Amino acid sequence: MTVRLNLRTLFLDHSAALGGAELYLLDLAPAFAPPGEVLLLEEGPFYEKLRAAGIPADVIAAPEAVRRVAREAGPFRALRAVPGLLRLAWRVARKARAFDLIYANSQKALVVGSLAAQMARRPLVWNLHDVLTTEHFSAMNIRLAVTLANRFARLVIANSEASKAAFLEAGGRVPVVVVHNGIDVERFAAVDSEQVVALRQKLGLRDGPVVGLFSRLAPWKGQHVLLEALAELPDVQAILVGEALFQDEQLYAEQLRKRAAQPDLEGRVHFLGFRDDVPELMQLVDVVVHTSVAPEPFGRVIVEGMLARRPVIATRGGGAVEIVRDGETGLLVPPGDVQALVAAIRHLLEHPDLARRLAEAAYRDARLRFSLKTMRRKVRQALVEVVARER
Ligand code: UDP
Ligand code: GLC
Repeated sequence: MTVRLNLRTLFLDHSAALGGAELYLLDLAPAFAPPGEVLLLEEGPFYEKLRAAGIPADVIAAPEAVRRVAREAGPFRALRAVPGLLRLAWRVARKARAFDLIYANSQKALVVGSLAAQMARRPLVWNLHDVLTTEHFSAMNIRLAVTLANRFARLVIANSEASKAAFLEAGGRVPVVVVHNGIDVERFAAVDSEQVVALRQKLGLRDGPVVGLFSRLAPWKGQHVLLEALAELPDVQAILVGEALFQDEQLYAEQLRKRAAQPDLEGRVHFLGFRDDVPELMQLVDVVVHTSVAPEPFGRVIVEGMLARRPVIATRGGGAVEIVRDGETGLLVPPGDVQALVAAIRHLLEHPDLARRLAEAAYRDARLRFSLKTMRRKVRQALVEVVARER
């Protein structure tokens, strides 16, 4: 039964960078805000995008000591952040009193949101966008997230079965529902082909096949695997779309650029940085590749490649296996396996009919299974139940 209720949701996200979790929220929030609102703990491009989309948004900047508590921070640094954290939570709590619930959209938001929810006496929901294993996080970090969720969250919304399973495996005991990201199909349908030809010229691409990798530059996203694969595919060019978003990713980005400048790859790898025109860029590649070497929590770019009607190659693991049916709606390769990636790219380039068939099947499947409408409906239903139980 659908309960009608005017939900006032306060979405909380610590980051104003444009990561996948923030782009998800940008797609989710219009269904809730107003009367809901998005509250960020720093200023940045995500805040600008929310405002441009007409979504009520606000910033309460986290103090420096809180911002510096990184993924691998030790107990001493964490302790020093406590006074600032309490003050921050108090300010969030004052705001939260005007809302029915707090929706934490990141792990740091879970920390602040847990305290704020207690102070404001509002229910807390956590949207888990990560696979909580030691491949991705420190053991202490996982413990903290799971403990807070168990103690303070009424519900966890996981972005995939994989994220849910890792949470339960790590000791999660709160009810969990899985809601996959929905992607705006219209954005991918609206691409004009002349624009794509012009874009190809502007980027200085030569004739011949092009593969595209659309991810922030980070070791676990595995761009290095694609570079090694390209070394064995001398006719293939690549566009790498995305930038290093977080502190520890800069060094990796430099290493990639150095590798791409070596004679066997020189002139074939184009680093485009962060782009707002992913749908257009996807149209100009022959294959969309996803190369994460650790399980991808969900993988928006995989669905986007499918909606762009491109054949997709993704690494087996995490959310990718919930998205792609190997050999039917794309190809799956083992993570970190250069030879398997070379073979898969070659196979698609040498068999354009197969590539087209996979892409068409993928497009139809993605439209059905990853719509904005379904995502928004599932989240609404989950939140309504949380609030209804509270009353
Ligand atoms: N993206 C973008 N511009 C870029 C690179 C990526 O807009 O230059 C988008 C991409 O289209 C996708 C998101 O960033 O929607 C990345 O989400 P994903 O779930 O694939 O990975 P995450 O970075 O969240 O781990
Ligand atoms: C995270 C994950 C990514 C997922 C996104 C949206 O950033 O790394 O796999 O698609 O959140 O849920």
